[in-house]
Amino acid sequence: MKILVTGGLGFIGSHTVVELQNEGFEVVIIDNCSNSSKDVLKGITSITGKQPIFEEFDLREKGEVQEFFKRHQDIEGIIHFAASKAVGESVEKPLLYYENNISTLVYLLQELQKKKDSSFIFSSSCTVYGQADELPITETAPVKAAESPYGNTKQMGEEIIRDTCKVKPNLKAIALRYFNPIGAHPTAEIGELPIGVPQNLVPFITQTAIGLREQLSVFGDDYPTNDGTAVRDYIHVVDLAKAHVVALQRLLENKNKSNYEVFNVGTGTGSSVLEIIHSFEKVSNQRLNYKIVGRREGDITAAYADTTKANQELGWKAKSSLDEALASAWKWEQKVRS
Ligand code: WQD
Repeated sequence: MKILVTGGLGFIGSHTVVELQNEGFEVVIIDNCSNSSKDVLKGITSITGKQPIFEEFDLREKGEVQEFFKRHQDIEGIIHFAASKAVGESVEKPLLYYENNISTLVYLLQELQKKKDSSFIFSSSCTVYGQADELPITETAPVKAAESPYGNTKQMGEEIIRDTCKVKPNLKAIALRYFNPIGAHPTAEIGELPIGVPQNLVPFITQTAIGLREQLSVFGDDYPTNDGTAVRDYIHVVDLAKAHVVALQRLLENKNKSNYEVFNVGTGTGSSVLEIIHSFEKVSNQRLNYKIVGRREGDITAAYADTTKANQELGWKAKSSLDEALASAWKWEQKVRS
């Protein structure tokens, strides 16, 4: 069975391609390589022994999207990762984010609605909750006004899919709201490859530890949390990838309860920035150079998932520990810099 993975050379996309191939799916990747490298194809192939079909073009080219679906009429499912995802950049360049994240989604859905039956998995984010009023966060928590154009594109994306599914019963969709993906494949053949200075915590930690960065700045220790630093739900990227396969299988096997569903994908456990640092120091057996600075604009105090719905309805649960996830990130950083 052929599955399209857009953004399949990216961090979460590449790990999902591996898990799809492990489950016997034939994978086609579309990626414009704007935030990824073709070398990732080699990494995927070295893990699974199977080279995915790869087509390099920009999903903003509507004509190319239409031609693609004419060439691949046997695609039965799509997992849609391709999007811009830097919160800070989205504030500086909102139109880039609305064009890239929204028009591409619309073009894909326009093709899918023509098909007799289709399954669509959307890469969403816990960002839609903002600072939730209650923790852990359930899927019924209210979606709050987005704090960035990036977050707004995820909210709008979910609404576009929901509205389309309402009038297209042949289109089945699941939005997966990720918490904080970290780590790398245990083989260290694929992992996170941030371009430029990493915005996210864990790649900044591993790059500091390897000597690429001078020092980690901890953005605030005056939050109302146990140790004053902000709390997030850090999930191993392989666990997250497996959640995509399980969600896709739910739709392909018609086990979905409605044709638009939402699931939180996290571990259910919150960890503070200092707890991440201490865990990393333990698994890497080295001290990390960091300093406490002021809060980062737009950051929330705490977010971690209530995973009951995913556990019970998807039959999926994150398996890796925080130490395992951080050890895999460190192994990957050492491999990339060797
Ligand atoms: C985590 C914690 C920072 C860097 C974002 C997006 C989310 C998703 C994941 C795409 C926070 C602190 C960070 C640093 C630090 N992206 N931190 N020093 O902001 O929770 O989520 O990335 O889907 O949508 O919003 O992740 O890794 O940037 O930050 O102290 O150098 O680490 O303040 O508390 P975040 P993050």
